[in-house]
Amino acid sequence: MNTYGIQYVSSREIVDRYLSFFCERGHYELSGSPLVLPGNSTSFVIAGMQPLLPYLRGQTIPPSPRLTCLQRCLRTDDIEAVGINSLKNTSFHMLGNWSIGDYGRREAITMALEFLLEHLGLEKATLWVTVFAGDPELCILPDEAAIEEWVRVGIPRERIVPLGVEDNLWEMGGIGLCGPCSEIFVDRGPNSGCGSLTCRPGCFCDRYLEIWNLVFMEFERLTNGALVSLPRRNVDTGLGLERVASVLQGAESNFSIDLFLPASERLTALQAGGEQTIELRARRIILDHLRAVLLAGFAGVEPGRDGRGSVVRRLIRRAARQGRLLGIQGPFLGELVEPLALGHGSLFTGEEHALLPTLKERITHEEALFARVLTMGLRYLEQIEPDGRNVISGEQLFRLHAEKGFPVDLATEILSERGITVDWLQYERSKEEHRRVSRVSAEKHFRGM
Ligand code: ALA
Repeated sequence: MNTYGIQYVSSREIVDRYLSFFCERGHYELSGSPLVLPGNSTSFVIAGMQPLLPYLRGQTIPPSPRLTCLQRCLRTDDIEAVGINSLKNTSFHMLGNWSIGDYGRREAITMALEFLLEHLGLEKATLWVTVFAGDPELCILPDEAAIEEWVRVGIPRERIVPLGVEDNLWEMGGIGLCGPCSEIFVDRGPNSGCGSLTCRPGCFCDRYLEIWNLVFMEFERLTNGALVSLPRRNVDTGLGLERVASVLQGAESNFSIDLFLPASERLTALQAGGEQTIELRARRIILDHLRAVLLAGFAGVEPGRDGRGSVVRRLIRRAARQGRLLGIQGPFLGELVEPLALGHGSLFTGEEHALLPTLKERITHEEALFARVLTMGLRYLEQIEPDGRNVISGEQLFRLHAEKGFPVDLATEILSERGITVDWLQYERSKEEHRRVSRVSAEKHFRGM
Protein backbone atom coordinates (compact mmCIF):
# COMPACT_ATOMS: atom_id res chain seq x y z
CA MET A 1 0.00 0.00 0.00
CA ASN A 2 1.28 3.51 -0.71
CA THR A 3 0.49 6.85 0.94
CA TYR A 4 -2.82 7.09 -0.93
CA GLY A 5 -3.88 3.72 0.49
CA ILE A 6 -3.54 2.27 -3.01
CA GLN A 7 -1.85 -0.96 -4.01
CA TYR A 8 1.54 -0.39 -5.71
CA VAL A 9 1.45 -0.99 -9.47
CA SER A 10 4.60 -0.96 -11.63
CA SER A 11 4.75 1.14 -14.79
CA ARG A 12 4.97 -1.97 -16.97
CA GLU A 13 1.90 -3.39 -15.25
CA ILE A 14 -0.06 -0.14 -15.80
CA VAL A 15 0.74 -0.34 -19.52
CA ASP A 16 -0.26 -4.00 -19.74
CA ARG A 17 -3.51 -3.48 -17.83
CA TYR A 18 -4.42 -0.45 -19.97
CA LEU A 19 -3.81 -2.13 -23.31
CA SER A 20 -5.61 -5.34 -22.26
CA PHE A 21 -8.56 -3.35 -20.89
CA PHE A 22 -9.09 -1.52 -24.16
CA CYS A 23 -8.36 -4.55 -26.34
CA GLU A 24 -11.03 -6.46 -24.41
CA ARG A 25 -13.39 -3.61 -25.30
CA GLY A 26 -12.85 -3.95 -29.03
CA HIS A 27 -9.79 -1.72 -29.52
CA TYR A 28 -7.02 -2.67 -31.91
CA GLU A 29 -3.56 -2.30 -30.38
CA LEU A 30 -1.13 -0.30 -32.51
CA SER A 31 2.58 -0.29 -31.80
CA GLY A 32 3.88 3.11 -30.76
CA SER A 33 5.63 5.18 -33.41
CA PRO A 34 9.23 6.27 -33.15
CA LEU A 35 9.69 9.71 -31.64
CA VAL A 36 10.37 11.12 -35.09
CA LEU A 37 7.70 10.73 -37.74
CA PRO A 38 8.89 10.60 -41.35
CA GLY A 39 8.01 13.78 -43.24
CA ASN A 40 6.62 15.51 -40.17
CA SER A 41 7.33 19.16 -39.63
CA THR A 42 7.19 19.20 -35.83
CA SER A 43 10.40 18.22 -34.17
CA PHE A 44 9.24 15.22 -32.23
CA VAL A 45 5.97 13.40 -31.57
CA ILE A 46 4.23 15.53 -28.92
CA ALA A 47 0.98 13.61 -28.44
CA GLY A 48 -0.27 10.05 -28.80
CA MET A 49 -2.72 11.12 -31.50
CA GLN A 50 -0.09 12.60 -33.80
CA PRO A 51 0.88 9.38 -35.60
CA LEU A 52 -2.86 8.67 -35.99
CA LEU A 53 -3.70 11.92 -37.79
CA PRO A 54 -4.36 10.25 -41.17
CA TYR A 55 -7.01 8.07 -39.44
CA LEU A 56 -8.48 10.93 -37.43
CA ARG A 57 -8.69 13.11 -40.54
CA GLY A 58 -10.34 10.32 -42.52
CA GLN A 59 -7.47 10.16 -45.04
CA THR A 60 -6.64 6.50 -44.30
CA ILE A 61 -8.90 3.72 -43.07
CA PRO A 62 -7.79 2.50 -39.63
CA PRO A 63 -7.51 -1.24 -38.88
CA SER A 64 -10.46 -0.69 -36.49
CA PRO A 65 -12.61 2.30 -35.50
CA ARG A 66 -11.32 1.67 -31.95
CA LEU A 67 -7.58 1.96 -31.38
CA THR A 68 -5.23 1.85 -28.42
CA CYS A 69 -1.50 2.35 -28.04
CA LEU A 70 1.45 3.37 -25.87
CA GLN A 71 3.26 6.31 -27.44
CA ARG A 72 6.48 8.07 -26.47
CA CYS A 73 6.33 11.84 -26.64
CA LEU A 74 8.80 14.69 -26.30
CA ARG A 75 7.69 18.26 -25.64
CA THR A 76 10.18 21.04 -25.08
CA ASP A 77 7.72 23.96 -24.81
CA ASP A 78 8.21 24.31 -21.11
CA ILE A 79 11.67 22.79 -20.79
CA GLU A 80 12.60 25.44 -18.23
CA ALA A 81 9.74 24.36 -15.97
CA VAL A 82 11.12 20.81 -15.63
CA GLY A 83 12.16 20.13 -12.05
CA ILE A 84 10.41 23.14 -10.55
CA ASN A 85 7.37 21.08 -9.67
CA SER A 86 6.82 17.36 -9.41
CA LEU A 87 5.13 16.72 -12.75
CA LYS A 88 6.71 18.48 -15.72
CA ASN A 89 8.59 16.22 -18.10
CA THR A 90 10.03 16.80 -21.54
CA SER A 91 9.75 13.13 -22.48
CA PHE A 92 6.85 10.99 -21.32
CA HIS A 93 4.77 7.97 -22.24
CA MET A 94 1.18 8.53 -23.24
CA LEU A 95 -1.34 5.71 -23.14
CA GLY A 96 -4.28 6.38 -25.40
CA ASN A 97 -7.58 5.02 -26.67
CA TRP A 98 -9.26 6.43 -29.75
CA SER A 99 -12.65 6.30 -31.33
CA ILE A 100 -12.53 7.03 -35.04
CA GLY A 101 -16.16 8.02 -35.59
CA ASP A 102 -17.23 5.24 -33.22
CA TYR A 103 -18.08 5.97 -29.56
CA GLY A 104 -18.50 9.40 -28.02
CA ARG A 105 -18.54 10.97 -24.55
CA ARG A 106 -20.63 8.30 -22.83
CA GLU A 107 -18.36 5.35 -23.56
CA ALA A 108 -15.14 7.30 -23.29
CA ILE A 109 -16.05 8.56 -19.82
CA THR A 110 -17.53 5.26 -18.62
CA MET A 111 -14.48 3.25 -19.73
CA ALA A 112 -11.99 5.76 -18.30
CA LEU A 113 -13.62 5.70 -14.89
CA GLU A 114 -13.98 1.92 -14.88
CA PHE A 115 -10.31 1.52 -15.72
CA LEU A 116 -9.13 3.90 -13.01
CA LEU A 117 -11.33 2.50 -10.27
CA GLU A 118 -11.52 -1.19 -11.04
CA HIS A 119 -8.23 -1.86 -12.78
CA LEU A 120 -5.87 0.57 -11.08
CA GLY A 121 -7.58 0.75 -7.71
CA LEU A 122 -7.98 4.55 -7.48
CA GLU A 123 -10.66 5.90 -5.13
CA LYS A 124 -13.58 7.73 -6.73
CA ALA A 125 -13.51 10.22 -3.84
CA THR A 126 -10.03 11.41 -4.94
CA LEU A 127 -11.07 12.14 -8.53
CA TRP A 128 -12.01 15.53 -9.97
CA VAL A 129 -12.75 16.38 -13.57
CA THR A 130 -12.75 19.48 -15.73
CA VAL A 131 -15.01 20.14 -18.71
CA PHE A 132 -15.10 22.84 -21.37
CA ALA A 133 -16.94 25.93 -20.10
CA GLY A 134 -17.84 27.05 -23.65
CA ASP A 135 -16.79 30.24 -25.38
CA PRO A 136 -19.17 32.95 -26.62
CA GLU A 137 -16.61 34.34 -29.06
CA LEU A 138 -16.22 30.95 -30.70
CA CYS A 139 -19.99 30.34 -30.39
CA ILE A 140 -19.42 27.09 -28.47
CA LEU A 141 -21.77 26.25 -25.62
CA PRO A 142 -20.61 24.74 -22.30
CA ASP A 143 -20.10 20.99 -22.55
CA GLU A 144 -23.30 19.98 -20.74
CA ALA A 145 -23.18 16.54 -22.36
CA ALA A 146 -19.84 15.78 -20.65
CA ILE A 147 -21.14 17.10 -17.30
CA GLU A 148 -24.18 14.87 -17.64
CA GLU A 149 -22.02 11.80 -18.29
CA TRP A 150 -19.76 12.51 -15.29
CA VAL A 151 -22.80 12.95 -13.05
CA ARG A 152 -24.30 9.73 -14.44
CA VAL A 153 -21.18 7.75 -13.42
CA GLY A 154 -21.25 9.26 -9.95
CA ILE A 155 -18.86 12.22 -9.93
CA PRO A 156 -20.59 14.90 -7.85
CA ARG A 157 -21.19 18.27 -9.52
CA GLU A 158 -18.95 20.08 -7.07
CA ARG A 159 -16.00 18.05 -8.36
CA ILE A 160 -16.77 18.89 -12.01
CA VAL A 161 -14.95 22.12 -12.88
CA PRO A 162 -15.74 24.04 -16.09
CA LEU A 163 -12.67 25.77 -17.58
CA GLY A 164 -12.17 27.93 -20.68
CA VAL A 165 -10.37 27.73 -24.01
CA GLU A 166 -6.88 27.87 -22.49
CA ASP A 167 -7.39 24.71 -20.45
CA ASN A 168 -10.18 22.73 -22.04
CA LEU A 169 -10.21 23.25 -25.78
CA TRP A 170 -7.47 20.88 -26.87
CA GLU A 171 -5.59 21.56 -30.07
CA MET A 172 -2.16 20.79 -31.38
CA GLY A 173 -0.15 23.72 -32.64
CA GLY A 174 -3.06 26.11 -33.30
CA ILE A 175 -4.48 24.60 -36.51
CA GLY A 176 -6.14 21.32 -37.42
CA LEU A 177 -8.31 18.91 -35.47
CA CYS A 178 -9.39 20.04 -32.04
CA GLY A 179 -12.22 19.83 -29.57
CA PRO A 180 -13.52 20.34 -26.06
CA CYS A 181 -11.76 18.15 -23.56
CA SER A 182 -12.43 16.73 -20.16
CA GLU A 183 -9.45 16.13 -17.90
CA ILE A 184 -9.30 13.75 -14.96
CA PHE A 185 -7.36 14.84 -11.87
CA VAL A 186 -6.28 13.04 -8.71
CA ASP A 187 -6.50 15.05 -5.50
CA ARG A 188 -3.20 14.46 -3.71
CA GLY A 189 -4.52 16.01 -0.52
CA PRO A 190 -4.17 19.38 1.21
CA ASN A 191 -0.55 18.74 2.21
CA SER A 192 0.47 18.89 -1.46
CA GLY A 193 -1.43 22.11 -2.12
CA CYS A 194 -1.22 25.86 -1.83
CA GLY A 195 -3.81 26.02 0.94
CA SER A 196 -6.00 28.53 -0.90
CA LEU A 197 -9.74 28.13 -0.35
CA THR A 198 -10.28 28.33 -4.10
CA CYS A 199 -7.63 25.68 -4.90
CA ARG A 200 -9.01 23.14 -7.37
CA PRO A 201 -8.06 21.66 -10.75
CA GLY A 202 -6.63 24.46 -12.83
CA CYS A 203 -4.70 25.85 -9.80
CA PHE A 204 -0.97 26.10 -10.37
CA CYS A 205 -0.01 24.21 -7.24
CA ASP A 206 0.79 20.48 -6.98
CA ARG A 207 -2.41 19.35 -5.24
CA TYR A 208 -4.52 18.30 -8.24
CA LEU A 209 -2.60 16.12 -10.63
CA GLU A 210 -3.98 15.84 -14.15
CA ILE A 211 -3.61 12.25 -15.27
CA TRP A 212 -5.91 11.75 -18.27
CA ASN A 213 -7.24 13.96 -21.00
CA LEU A 214 -10.34 12.95 -22.99
CA VAL A 215 -10.67 15.06 -26.12
CA PHE A 216 -13.95 15.12 -28.00
CA MET A 217 -12.57 16.00 -31.39
CA GLU A 218 -15.40 17.85 -33.07
CA PHE A 219 -13.81 20.80 -34.83
CA GLU A 220 -11.14 21.76 -37.26
CA ARG A 221 -9.31 25.05 -36.64
CA LEU A 222 -8.65 26.73 -40.00
CA THR A 223 -5.60 28.87 -40.73
CA ASN A 224 -7.74 32.02 -40.33
CA GLY A 225 -8.53 30.93 -36.75
CA ALA A 226 -12.16 29.96 -37.45
CA LEU A 227 -13.56 26.67 -36.13
CA VAL A 228 -15.65 24.43 -38.36
CA SER A 229 -17.62 21.41 -37.19
CA LEU A 230 -16.36 18.04 -38.40
CA PRO A 231 -18.81 15.68 -40.09
CA ARG A 232 -17.35 12.73 -38.19
CA ARG A 233 -16.56 12.95 -34.51
CA ASN A 234 -13.60 11.27 -32.90
CA VAL A 235 -12.42 10.72 -29.35
CA ASP A 236 -8.72 11.12 -28.58
CA THR A 237 -7.44 10.35 -25.10
CA GLY A 238 -4.08 10.53 -23.36
CA LEU A 239 -3.20 9.05 -19.96
CA GLY A 240 0.21 10.13 -18.68
CA LEU A 241 2.04 6.95 -17.64
CA GLU A 242 4.62 8.66 -15.42
CA ARG A 243 1.95 10.70 -13.64
CA VAL A 244 -0.40 7.82 -12.95
CA ALA A 245 2.58 5.70 -11.87
CA SER A 246 3.57 8.42 -9.39
CA VAL A 247 0.13 8.14 -7.79
CA LEU A 248 0.06 4.34 -7.76
CA GLN A 249 3.60 4.12 -6.43
CA GLY A 250 3.15 6.87 -3.81
CA ALA A 251 6.11 8.64 -5.42
CA GLU A 252 7.12 12.20 -4.60
CA SER A 253 7.34 13.06 -8.30
CA ASN A 254 7.40 11.59 -11.80
CA PHE A 255 11.13 11.11 -11.29
CA SER A 256 10.79 8.91 -8.22
CA ILE A 257 8.85 6.17 -9.99
CA ASP A 258 10.23 2.74 -10.81
CA LEU A 259 11.40 3.78 -14.32
CA PHE A 260 13.90 6.22 -12.80
CA LEU A 261 14.83 4.42 -9.58
CA PRO A 262 18.11 2.71 -10.62
CA ALA A 263 19.34 5.89 -12.36
CA SER A 264 18.33 7.98 -9.36
CA GLU A 265 20.36 5.71 -7.07
CA ARG A 266 23.37 5.90 -9.36
CA LEU A 267 23.06 9.68 -9.38
CA THR A 268 23.06 9.73 -5.58
CA ALA A 269 26.30 7.74 -5.63
CA LEU A 270 27.92 10.20 -8.06
CA GLN A 271 26.63 13.28 -6.30
CA ALA A 272 28.98 15.22 -4.05
CA GLY A 273 26.71 17.87 -2.59
CA GLY A 274 24.02 20.39 -3.45
CA GLU A 275 21.69 22.58 -1.44
CA GLN A 276 18.34 20.82 -0.88
CA THR A 277 15.93 22.64 -3.21
CA ILE A 278 18.58 23.14 -5.89
CA GLU A 279 19.46 19.47 -5.56
CA LEU A 280 15.89 18.28 -6.06
CA ARG A 281 15.44 20.35 -9.20
CA ALA A 282 18.85 19.39 -10.55
CA ARG A 283 18.22 15.69 -10.09
CA ARG A 284 14.85 15.90 -11.83
CA ILE A 285 16.29 17.82 -14.76
CA ILE A 286 19.15 15.35 -15.20
CA LEU A 287 16.87 12.30 -15.14
CA ASP A 288 14.29 13.91 -17.40
CA HIS A 289 16.69 15.27 -19.97
CA LEU A 290 18.85 12.17 -20.18
CA ARG A 291 15.82 9.98 -20.77
CA ALA A 292 14.66 12.36 -23.52
CA VAL A 293 18.13 12.18 -25.10
CA LEU A 294 18.00 8.36 -25.04
CA LEU A 295 14.53 8.23 -26.61
CA ALA A 296 15.61 10.69 -29.30
CA GLY A 297 18.77 8.61 -29.83
CA PHE A 298 16.64 5.49 -30.36
CA ALA A 299 14.88 7.45 -33.13
CA GLY A 300 18.25 8.23 -34.73
CA VAL A 301 18.62 11.83 -33.51
CA GLU A 302 22.17 12.79 -32.55
CA PRO A 303 23.31 15.99 -30.86
CA GLY A 304 23.94 18.67 -33.46
CA ARG A 305 23.68 22.34 -34.37
CA ASP A 306 20.28 22.44 -36.06
CA GLY A 307 16.74 21.12 -35.85
CA ARG A 308 16.14 18.07 -33.70
CA GLY A 309 19.88 17.62 -33.11
CA SER A 310 20.03 21.04 -31.47
CA VAL A 311 17.23 20.02 -29.09
CA VAL A 312 19.26 16.98 -28.05
CA ARG A 313 22.39 19.09 -27.63
CA ARG A 314 20.47 21.56 -25.50
CA LEU A 315 19.14 18.77 -23.29
CA ILE A 316 22.65 17.35 -22.77
CA ARG A 317 24.09 20.77 -21.95
CA ARG A 318 21.33 21.65 -19.50
CA ALA A 319 21.75 18.30 -17.77
CA ALA A 320 25.55 18.70 -17.68
CA ARG A 321 25.22 22.08 -15.98
CA GLN A 322 22.89 20.61 -13.35
CA GLY A 323 25.61 18.05 -12.60
CA ARG A 324 27.87 20.91 -11.51
CA LEU A 325 25.20 22.02 -9.02
CA LEU A 326 25.41 18.54 -7.52
CA GLY A 327 29.18 18.83 -7.19
CA ILE A 328 29.93 16.48 -10.10
CA GLN A 329 32.86 17.88 -12.06
CA GLY A 330 33.50 15.69 -15.10
CA PRO A 331 31.18 14.11 -17.66
CA PHE A 332 28.77 11.83 -15.81
CA LEU A 333 25.64 11.41 -17.94
CA GLY A 334 26.97 8.27 -19.60
CA GLU A 335 27.10 6.63 -16.15
CA LEU A 336 23.33 6.89 -15.92
CA VAL A 337 22.50 5.33 -19.28
CA GLU A 338 22.52 1.69 -18.17
CA PRO A 339 20.61 2.31 -14.92
CA LEU A 340 17.98 4.24 -16.88
CA ALA A 341 17.61 1.36 -19.30
CA LEU A 342 17.40 -1.04 -16.38
CA GLY A 343 14.51 0.96 -14.89
CA HIS A 344 12.67 1.00 -18.21
CA GLY A 345 13.15 -2.74 -18.79
CA SER A 346 10.83 -3.95 -21.53
CA LEU A 347 9.55 -0.44 -22.27
CA PHE A 348 12.76 -0.27 -24.31
CA THR A 349 12.93 -2.84 -27.11
CA GLY A 350 15.73 -5.38 -27.49
CA GLU A 351 17.21 -3.34 -30.37
CA GLU A 352 17.13 -0.23 -28.21
CA HIS A 353 18.94 -1.99 -25.38
CA ALA A 354 21.55 -3.05 -27.95
CA LEU A 355 22.04 0.60 -28.97
CA LEU A 356 22.91 1.71 -25.44
CA PRO A 357 26.73 1.40 -25.62
CA THR A 358 26.80 3.57 -28.79
CA LEU A 359 24.49 6.16 -27.27
CA LYS A 360 26.47 6.21 -24.05
CA GLU A 361 29.63 6.94 -26.00
CA ARG A 362 27.99 9.76 -28.00
CA ILE A 363 26.49 11.38 -24.94
CA THR A 364 29.80 11.26 -23.08
CA HIS A 365 31.62 12.68 -26.10
CA GLU A 366 29.15 15.57 -26.39
CA GLU A 367 29.32 16.27 -22.67
CA ALA A 368 33.11 16.20 -22.70
CA LEU A 369 33.22 18.66 -25.62
CA PHE A 370 31.07 21.04 -23.62
CA ALA A 371 32.85 20.59 -20.27
CA ARG A 372 35.57 23.23 -20.81
CA VAL A 373 33.12 25.81 -22.20
CA LEU A 374 30.85 25.11 -19.24
CA THR A 375 33.59 25.60 -16.64
CA MET A 376 34.76 28.81 -18.23
CA GLY A 377 31.22 30.15 -18.81
CA LEU A 378 30.11 29.42 -15.26
CA ARG A 379 33.13 31.29 -13.92
CA TYR A 380 32.43 34.24 -16.25
CA LEU A 381 28.76 34.36 -15.26
CA GLU A 382 29.61 34.21 -11.55
CA GLN A 383 31.83 37.24 -11.92
CA ILE A 384 29.38 39.32 -13.92
CA GLU A 385 28.20 42.36 -11.95
CA PRO A 386 24.75 43.68 -12.85
CA ASP A 387 23.84 47.37 -12.58
CA GLY A 388 21.63 48.78 -9.84
CA ARG A 389 18.50 47.48 -11.59
CA ASN A 390 20.01 43.95 -11.67
CA VAL A 391 20.47 44.15 -15.45
CA ILE A 392 23.64 43.17 -17.32
CA SER A 393 24.76 44.66 -20.57
CA GLY A 394 23.77 42.65 -23.62
CA GLU A 395 27.32 43.01 -24.90
CA GLN A 396 28.70 40.90 -22.04
CA LEU A 397 26.28 38.11 -22.86
CA PHE A 398 26.92 38.39 -26.57
CA ARG A 399 30.69 38.10 -26.05
CA LEU A 400 30.26 35.03 -23.87
CA HIS A 401 28.33 33.43 -26.70
CA ALA A 402 30.29 34.65 -29.73
CA GLU A 403 33.80 34.32 -28.30
CA LYS A 404 33.45 31.37 -25.95
CA GLY A 405 30.58 29.40 -27.49
CA PHE A 406 28.42 29.44 -24.35
CA PRO A 407 24.70 28.93 -25.17
CA VAL A 408 22.65 32.09 -24.72
CA ASP A 409 19.57 30.30 -23.33
CA LEU A 410 21.62 28.53 -20.68
CA ALA A 411 23.43 31.75 -19.70
CA THR A 412 20.10 33.61 -19.46
CA GLU A 413 18.66 30.88 -17.28
CA ILE A 414 21.70 30.87 -14.95
CA LEU A 415 21.55 34.65 -14.64
CA SER A 416 17.81 34.59 -13.95
CA GLU A 417 18.48 32.24 -11.01
CA ARG A 418 20.35 35.19 -9.48
CA GLY A 419 17.47 37.52 -10.42
CA ILE A 420 19.54 39.13 -13.18
CA THR A 421 18.05 40.12 -16.53
CA VAL A 422 19.74 41.07 -19.80
CA ASP A 423 19.58 44.28 -21.81
CA TRP A 424 18.35 42.58 -24.99
CA LEU A 425 18.35 45.74 -27.08
CA GLN A 426 22.03 46.11 -26.44
CA TYR A 427 22.52 42.40 -27.13
CA GLU A 428 20.97 42.85 -30.59
CA ARG A 429 23.12 45.92 -31.22
CA SER A 430 26.29 43.98 -30.33
CA LYS A 431 25.20 41.17 -32.62
CA GLU A 432 24.60 43.62 -35.47
CA GLU A 433 27.95 45.30 -34.88
CA HIS A 434 29.69 41.91 -34.85
CA ARG A 435 28.05 41.06 -38.20
CA ARG A 436 29.12 44.41 -39.70
CA VAL A 437 32.73 43.96 -38.59
CA SER A 438 32.82 40.39 -39.94
CA ARG A 439 31.41 41.59 -43.28
CA VAL A 440 33.98 44.37 -43.60
CA SER A 441 36.89 42.10 -42.76
CA ALA A 442 35.61 39.44 -45.20
CA GLU A 443 35.39 42.07 -47.96
CA LYS A 444 38.93 43.27 -47.17
CA HIS A 445 40.15 39.69 -47.30
CA PHE A 446 38.60 39.11 -50.74
CA ARG A 447 39.88 42.43 -52.10
CA GLY A 448 43.36 41.52 -50.89
CA MET A 449 43.28 38.17 -52.76
N1 ALA B 1 -4.24 14.60 -27.47
C1 ALA B 1 -4.57 14.79 -26.10
C2 ALA B 1 -3.38 15.27 -25.30
O1 ALA B 1 -2.28 15.19 -25.77
C3 ALA B 1 -5.15 13.58 -25.52
O2 ALA B 1 -3.56 15.71 -24.20
